[in-house]
Amino acid sequence: QSGEEQTQDYLFKIVLIGDSAVGKSNLLARFARDEFYPNSKSTIGVEFQTQKMEINGKEVKAQIWDTAGQERFRAVTSAYYRGAVGALLVYDISRRQTFDSIGRWLNELQTHSDMNVVTILVGNKSDLKDAREVTTAEGKSLAEAQGLFFIETSALDSSNVTAAFQTVVREIF
Ligand code: GTP
Ligand code: MG
Repeated sequence: QSGEEQTQDYLFKIVLIGDSAVGKSNLLARFARDEFYPNSKSTIGVEFQTQKMEINGKEVKAQIWDTAGQERFRAVTSAYYRGAVGALLVYDISRRQTFDSIGRWLNELQTHSDMNVVTILVGNKSDLKDAREVTTAEGKSLAEAQGLFFIETSALDSSNVTAAFQTVVREIF
């Protein structure tokens, strides 16, 4: 890179939200470190990780925030959402109850963040085919109704994990 050309640093804050144990922390671990934890514990407080990505030949940094799905372990809500430009709204395709919670998470997101947060609905644990309780069509149709992107992922077998984060970052960019 020539001296005159400045490296433009793009830093985008992205938040992970959704019920406890849907796999938020493992999606982040898979994306940022290519790791998976079969017996991970609930997140306590808030963690974040910065991951470099390349979008249209430009270097972009995604700062991805992760907190607990369970109320009692969560960080202060307003601080968590402050400045977020993207969100992954995660449920577990093998537990319908986590899909039923999506409306509440959307409400919270809309209450605490800016209007234009790019949001993707993520049905995680697509590897659990025999335990599926939420069909792909149901996920898609909720996403369409709410104006969200949609993808199914597996942090376990890696499928679509990078694509989920990239969809959000590309749209912000
Ligand atoms: P909280 O921090 O409590 O909000 O939970 P979380 O959403 O961060 O869930 P976490 O990533 O800790 O995962 C919960 C459990 O689901 C762990 O036992 C993971 O190993 C498992 N898990 C996460 N992703 C997947 C997946 O894609 N497939 C399968 N089969 N298991 C997964
Ligand atoms: Mg967690």
